[in-house]
Amino acid sequence: MCGIVAYTGSNEAYPILMKGLHRLEYRGYDSAGVALMQSGSITLYKKRGKVSDLEDYCLTKDTSAHAGIAHTRWATHGEPNEQNAHPHLSEDHSLALIHNGIIENYLSLKKELQNRGYVFQSDTDTEVLVHLIKEVQQKDNIPLDEAVMLALSRVEGTYALAILSVDNPDQLILAKKGSPLLIGVGDNEYFIGSDGAPIVEYTNKVVYLEDGDVAVVSLENPLRIRNIRDEHALLKNPHYQRLEMTLDQIEKGGFETYMLKEIFEQPKSIRDSMRGRINLKKEVVSLGGLIEYEQKMMNAKRFIIAACGTSWHAGLVAEYLIESLVRIPVEVEYASEFRYRDPILYEDDVLIAISQSGETADTLAAVELAKRHGATVIGICNVVGSTLARETMAGSYTHAGPEIGVASTKAFTAQVTVLTLMALSLAQRKGTISKSMYHQLINDLESIPEKIERILAKEQHIQKIAQFVATRPNAIFLGRGINYPVALEGALKLKEISYIHAEGYPAAEMKHGPIALIDEHMPLIVIATEQLTYDKIVSNIQEVIARKGTIISIVTEGDTTVKGMSKFCIEIPRTEELLTPLVASVPLQLLAYHVALIRGCDVDKPRNLAKSVSVE
Ligand code: AGP
Ligand code: GLU
Repeated sequence: MCGIVAYTGSNEAYPILMKGLHRLEYRGYDSAGVALMQSGSITLYKKRGKVSDLEDYCLTKDTSAHAGIAHTRWATHGEPNEQNAHPHLSEDHSLALIHNGIIENYLSLKKELQNRGYVFQSDTDTEVLVHLIKEVQQKDNIPLDEAVMLALSRVEGTYALAILSVDNPDQLILAKKGSPLLIGVGDNEYFIGSDGAPIVEYTNKVVYLEDGDVAVVSLENPLRIRNIRDEHALLKNPHYQRLEMTLDQIEKGGFETYMLKEIFEQPKSIRDSMRGRINLKKEVVSLGGLIEYEQKMMNAKRFIIAACGTSWHAGLVAEYLIESLVRIPVEVEYASEFRYRDPILYEDDVLIAISQSGETADTLAAVELAKRHGATVIGICNVVGSTLARETMAGSYTHAGPEIGVASTKAFTAQVTVLTLMALSLAQRKGTISKSMYHQLINDLESIPEKIERILAKEQHIQKIAQFVATRPNAIFLGRGINYPVALEGALKLKEISYIHAEGYPAAEMKHGPIALIDEHMPLIVIATEQLTYDKIVSNIQEVIARKGTIISIVTEGDTTVKGMSKFCIEIPRTEELLTPLVASVPLQLLAYHVALIRGCDVDKPRNLAKSVSVE
């Protein structure tokens, strides 16, 4: 997905737009561009590469303006180059437009427009919008916002749009469907963003646009919002909300990278995700956002968990937690597969959608599908006011704070924490957990932040191991039981920021094929903490060593067996088996981080990736 920033007001627009792009760059960084309203005409600067490349280019340019739009791109249609960079201009250069999303029917619209003589400058889907809107505006001779509403009624797909027009130099037209867009309301100035990051420095009074909204932002008139789904297109009262974000949260706080900051924030973010939800004295766990649906969840015939990437791994951990503690079947689905395979869904199903950003297109589509089948839909999300938070019937925020690093770390452990609390709460109410186990898990959960602090103190030891792994072209991660998803997560972390090919497997699965990959060049990172199947893991490790594989192990403090079989070993504090993912994932995060640094990779903005994939 990409990042959208726009501004209109009495201050200089360019610095606000550039700082905003930097704060949204984690959402996509293939190219960047800015359109500025200068003396009644639009000036356009855009460059392939990162926001800093655009800034370097603009150093010698006239960037004075009081209104403008800016975009950092994650390409879906048209390679990441200068011509495909946003903003895109109408043929007469009277309109400039930026877009986040996918126009599904862009090819047919493009052919129509080309047949009517329009000449396209780019290969993007986005460009059809600016020509279509211009054509409607000219043909019907109507105000731009009405032209936008009419044009968008022909568009299929998703969009967050910001449009600048020479006809109204201080006005911005905004439109939203399927991709997020916020309006920050200042003192006679407006700050627009794909999320709160470019806005929080200036105001915390925001309006979250809803699907179908078309908004007119100008300095002369009050904010006007209408919705294309309203046949009368009546004016809506803007719903002003408070932006739940602080500037400090989105800065690096002295850390070299956002990812390292977020790894080290985990003791705090886990405490925050538990705050107000565990009453230690009464040993009561309660998730306020789910209370109304607790009965439905307890009576569910099954849970379906839909998510993507790291959030999907959190869902796999939840499968072990819920089936073990609540004794209700759980099916974990890749949201992208679930949405298209015409799944069998019943009204007494409960779908749990897990998403850090709350904007992942596939996960949102899974939510819509489940709602259409009458299932109960719950959201576990990290961004207040996100689309997921608004589209689900109930849910819980993970309260990890904004996660800027593209590789998810604190959001994962916060998701697992909330899912653990949910499983404990349901198990206690259903009577499927013994008092002693309930007591043990709650107390162990309380100690997790301190245990993570002890692991973080081993960073230098992990850096040494990273020196070894960084030289390897491949890696395999192994785990059993509830640590199998941790192996998958460790592999994803390594591959997505160091670009080393890494796979995660259930440890016992090695002998069914993958063991053929083992030789003296293959590092195996094995989660071999104390657990029911510990002896089995020891056997799996021996099978690998017999084939000259190199073992890097994550073990419980004091372990000597696996430690004695390992080239490298990371000892972590003893933890209840069901809570191990919360601690075992942390050394894997640090390992991936330092391997990527050693390999000279951009850990906060890995190639080809974006923080939240709000497009298909
Ligand atoms: C995680 O490290 C990845 N960046 C990615 O897999 C991410 O977890 C996935 O895109 C889902 O994002 P979401 O949690 O915001 O829905
Ligand atoms: N589909 C548009 C493009 O490829 C926008 C992509 C995005 O939202 O990142 O330029």
